[in-house]
Amino acid sequence: MKKIELADGVYMLSMNVENILFEGMWDLANGVTLNSYIVKGDKTAVIDGVIGWDGIPETLYKNFEEMNLNPKEIDYLIVNHMEPDHSGWIENFKKVNDHLTIICTDKAAKLINSFYGNEVEIRVVKEGDTLDLGKGKKLSFHPSPNVHWPDTMLTYESGTKTLFSCDMYGAFGKIGEHYFDDELTPEEVEFFEKEGIRYFSNVMGTFTPMVKKAIEKTKELDINIIAPGHGPVYRKNPQKIIDDYLRFCKYAEGYGKKEISILWGSMYGMTEKAVNYAEKILEREGIKVNKLKMPLETESEMLATVFQSAGIIVAAPTYEYKLFPPVAAAMEEIGRKKVAGKSALYFGSFGWSGGAEKELNEIVDRNRMKWDFVDTIEFEGSPKTEDLNRIEEGISKLIKQIEAKIS
Ligand SMILES: Cc1cc2nc3c(=O)[nH]c(=O)nc-3n(C[C@H](O)[C@H](O)[C@H](O)COP(=O)(O)O)c2cc1C
Ligand SMILES: [Fe+2]
Ligand SMILES: [Fe+2]
Repeated sequence: MKKIELADGVYMLSMNVENILFEGMWDLANGVTLNSYIVKGDKTAVIDGVIGWDGIPETLYKNFEEMNLNPKEIDYLIVNHMEPDHSGWIENFKKVNDHLTIICTDKAAKLINSFYGNEVEIRVVKEGDTLDLGKGKKLSFHPSPNVHWPDTMLTYESGTKTLFSCDMYGAFGKIGEHYFDDELTPEEVEFFEKEGIRYFSNVMGTFTPMVKKAIEKTKELDINIIAPGHGPVYRKNPQKIIDDYLRFCKYAEGYGKKEISILWGSMYGMTEKAVNYAEKILEREGIKVNKLKMPLETESEMLATVFQSAGIIVAAPTYEYKLFPPVAAAMEEIGRKKVAGKSALYFGSFGWSGGAEKELNEIVDRNRMKWDFVDTIEFEGSPKTEDLNRIEEGISKLIKQIEAKIS
């Protein structure tokens, strides 16, 4: 774990986690950090924790001790969010520290009891409640429900103007040497923007309206530092991550970068011929193309890439009267995450009667995705010149349509 001083009396302990299926399903190409924070006044508070994996709570205690902080003497644990990537250590910690008070929302209190038992003192807080730690350190609490769990709150320290935002303003991606926004190289800035999109699309996307409310809440606070539970700390320009999150909200509503993702699959190469043709047309038109071949692409990468693209081409054949299953599963996942309003084009090959297009429409309708398809093209067997011409026309329409959706 890396120890970093954020401000006088405010510290971060950050660890990189690799080879994790985050939330049991997201295969993270670049890992993730878990950030825990310590605020020292006369009393000491720990804000957010770590996962409860074997050895990790003990590593955290060792780090506390190296900071001259006896884990038995920690007074308060502020639980912004009960997802076990932050709370897993509580079961162990409550055995180590028997005079601990946990501060959290009413919804989190219920979760603490059901996850880790009820033999711990809990103080439930509401919007604007405060906790004076002494020596100029004063915390206030700001419930932000459904970002992305019902229990969530933001914690603000007024002496240093630090917002401890937990998952809000977080990003996936391991941290190397640089923990603060002003230390990041241009490559690292790009890396964390990408990992922020991965995080938002994988974890937050479903809750975009609530994320917007949390952004509004953030605007009411006078902030010098944003200290999230995952990813770098923003102290030079906290507005950057606020603006990024506002933009990511727009990606969930049909806006995107000036790029087109081809979400595709093919059994024996018939649809693939049309995909290759489409890729050439897009390259000729100077549009960045992301090819996502299913089922080879990870769910995490597929979702993040579709999420950030202004235009999507869905290309897949008919399989047993329906849409090729790996692409259907991807579309269902995109639908569950409420990635709505994208501009799109569909094409795919069939052998005898088709059916892929019908199921695609069903998925889009059932998930209320409101995608705007410029055309849907089912062709028999290998694509013929007239099929390719129609695909080319569709691509022209799609490129025109996304012009108004670039963000
Ligand atoms: C397992 C399997 C199931 C299929 N089911 C259908 C079907 O229900 N209706 C249909 O029109 N074609 C069906 N086909 C034919 C394919 O849609 C057709 O061969 C198409 O050209 C495949 O395109 P691809 O090479 O891009 O996978 C099926 C093919 C396979 C291998
Ligand atoms: Fe979470
Ligand atoms: Fe988290």
